[in-house]
Amino acid sequence: MRTKLLFVGGEEAEAWGRAFAELAPEVALLPYRLGIDISDVPYCLAYKSAPEIWPAMKSLRVVFCRGAGVDRLLADRTLPRDVPVVRMVEPELTRGMAEYVLWQCLFHHRKVWELEAAQSCAAWRPHTYPAPWDRTIGIMGLGELGAAAAAKLVEFGFQVRGWSRTPGSLPKVESFWGPEQLPAFLSKTEILVCLLPLTADTRGILNASLFAQLPRGASLINAARGGHLVEADLSAAMASGQINAATLDVFETEPLPEDHPFWSTERLYITPHNASNTDPRSGAWRIARQIARFEAGDGLENVVDRARGY
Ligand code: NAP
Ligand code: GLV
Repeated sequence: MRTKLLFVGGEEAEAWGRAFAELAPEVALLPYRLGIDISDVPYCLAYKSAPEIWPAMKSLRVVFCRGAGVDRLLADRTLPRDVPVVRMVEPELTRGMAEYVLWQCLFHHRKVWELEAAQSCAAWRPHTYPAPWDRTIGIMGLGELGAAAAAKLVEFGFQVRGWSRTPGSLPKVESFWGPEQLPAFLSKTEILVCLLPLTADTRGILNASLFAQLPRGASLINAARGGHLVEADLSAAMASGQINAATLDVFETEPLPEDHPFWSTERLYITPHNASNTDPRSGAWRIARQIARFEAGDGLENVVDRARGY
């Protein structure tokens, strides 16, 4: 008897269906559509919530999130309280984020926009930049993704510091934690990377007051969630020169509307929420293992703390 797993989110169903068929044929993936009987389906795989399904899933045991961030799922107040939510932790997602952060930190470290400006007028201009050990990069959120990004940056010789909720200890990463240590963390951070989960405590954290605590001319890289950023405050900080350049992968409204001022802001670089994606093959394999563990009574991994929000 195959285990039923409901798939919510039409556009990716095919790739996930292929991945389960190839790597975990013991799991029957059922793409959700209105009207199907899901009363006996024990597992659900979703990224965003779909409130109408919860009352119909009368046998629901676990909700798996296709992403590392569960903010969109948890925002649904109708999500059953007593059902565990498992977030995605898989090596390809982690590797992809470390790659993105390294790429963007090197881009900001080397101020590639200065080279572009010189090339646009055929000017052979001297272009200088500090050695990586004279450049301080600060990562907000030192979890699965932040820790992997920090390790990559350390490998390249940067001065790396991280800020988390509780004390952390990563090799060659200066650790700061809690609201009290945020000012000290920010005071020397020249390139700020946000990899926090979006929670009640972190919503709007990238705001005017935070920007003012960075060294003048700092760079911002937000690869976490659009809700972390107060967009108008970034525009003001870039206009004043307090923030010199930024890369944003995530936005309050996605896709970013065509008439959004960010599209035409100088030295503001946009990627379309693809800093890193869950690989369906790696994800399917992991979910199938989790289901097997759970059914054998061995518990689940990466269960979200619903009260904490991540
Ligand atoms: P994670 O393992 O849960 O790590 C979260 C980190 O944030 C932890 O270090 C945690 O501190 C810290 N944190 C949480 N609340 C905090 C607070 N109030 N103050 C200070 N630090 C706080 O999460 P992850 O797997 O690294 O993922 C992080 C986020 O990346 C996801 O939630 C998602 O939104 C985003 N993401 C984006 C993309 C993309 O393509 N753009 C892809 C994947 C994920 P403690 O260690 O002390 O608990
Ligand atoms: C993507 O944004 C994720 O949360 O995995």
